[in-house]
Amino acid sequence: MHPVFAPTRPGALADRDDFPILGRQIRDGKSLVYLDSAATSQKPWAVLDAERDFYLLHNAAAHRGAHQLAEEATELYEEARGAVAHFIGGHDREVVFTRSATEAINLVAYAMSNTAALGDTRSPFHIGPGDEILVTQMEHHANLVPWQQLALRTGATLRWVPVTPDGRLDESAFDALLTGRTRLLAVTHQSNVLGTINPITDLTRKAHAAGALVLVDGAQSVAHQPVDMAALGADFFVFSAHKMLGPNGIGVLWGRRHLLEQMPPVMTGGSMIETVRMDHTTFLPPPQRFEAGVPMAPQATGLAAAISYLTALGMASVHQYEAALTTLALERLTALDGVRIIGPRDGHQRGATLSFTVDGIHPHDVGQVLDDRGIAVRTGHHCARPLCERFGIPASIRASFYVYNTTDEIDELADGITQAQRFFA
Ligand code: ALA
Repeated sequence: MHPVFAPTRPGALADRDDFPILGRQIRDGKSLVYLDSAATSQKPWAVLDAERDFYLLHNAAAHRGAHQLAEEATELYEEARGAVAHFIGGHDREVVFTRSATEAINLVAYAMSNTAALGDTRSPFHIGPGDEILVTQMEHHANLVPWQQLALRTGATLRWVPVTPDGRLDESAFDALLTGRTRLLAVTHQSNVLGTINPITDLTRKAHAAGALVLVDGAQSVAHQPVDMAALGADFFVFSAHKMLGPNGIGVLWGRRHLLEQMPPVMTGGSMIETVRMDHTTFLPPPQRFEAGVPMAPQATGLAAAISYLTALGMASVHQYEAALTTLALERLTALDGVRIIGPRDGHQRGATLSFTVDGIHPHDVGQVLDDRGIAVRTGHHCARPLCERFGIPASIRASFYVYNTTDEIDELADGITQAQRFFA
């Protein structure tokens, strides 16, 4: 199949011509209206070129070999680590490259059960029967299932903070659920369904006062607002490149240095070892201790290019632009009869992800009508089934906006919903 490209519409924060896919025509010549960036973002030429240049000019296994290409690959990989650290206000040694945000969360979860298996009761990662893990009802599966499994492996108990009818965390329930037994709080920075931005600094302060570690899922936030590790105060922060204009196949675990230093390895093999004998092995310090195997240097190079692109736009401007799109989208959608927003109905402390249902029409049917018009949204439970159950819905329609979306596209979304209502009336 050969996609058809056409000039794109003007008027976004980013230059839409930087994103070749936005010029694609789909569904019999319709212009693509891409409103699914919470699932994955589109990529600018700068990112595509950076990854291609790596393969064209520098391809070698990073951190292996002394030949020139290996040196260049290593340099690019470590430069990318530095770019990530700078972008989030961390230190190079605190940035671990993983395959995804999901893997980064699992890494911490398995490090905790490895600590339990090693019987290291003095470790900050120790967890066992009588201890509790606190999550929230708004987590997507990647920040819920690993903790359920950790509880099963260690005998710890999983607890969760409920969500209020307007899609915010129930903070008084949080205060009651957080106790001296809580070993870890795992919470999303921004909900992938509701768009809610959680008060992480506050939650972290309280969790630390209770003696708990804090892991923040930044998969939906780091691409959309300035983040600063010192200001957030968490112990771990995870995200994926593909939701922030970067390539698939690479994510980040940021962790406080003194914690990473005490964290046992999870995946073992090449790249993470110091000395290997037939009967025992010693491990490198972090971050290499957690990066077994040949590093994802081409993807890291693409991620660094995505960070440069976002930095040039300015993360404060990105946040402001998306807030304006969100306000407009909320206005347009709440003005439609029968449309119910799942999540905060105002722009306060929420991101540019809008979930909704349309009375009397299954979300998949609405999605189909939109798709026929060239509008890509996500329909379903958005990998957050318990949250859908909380709101008594089997599924919802989710539109998510990014730096390349325009106000025209919000009008097209609203028109598409109206068309679906007429069609199914
Ligand atoms: N968690 C991702 C989403 O919200 C996959 O679509």
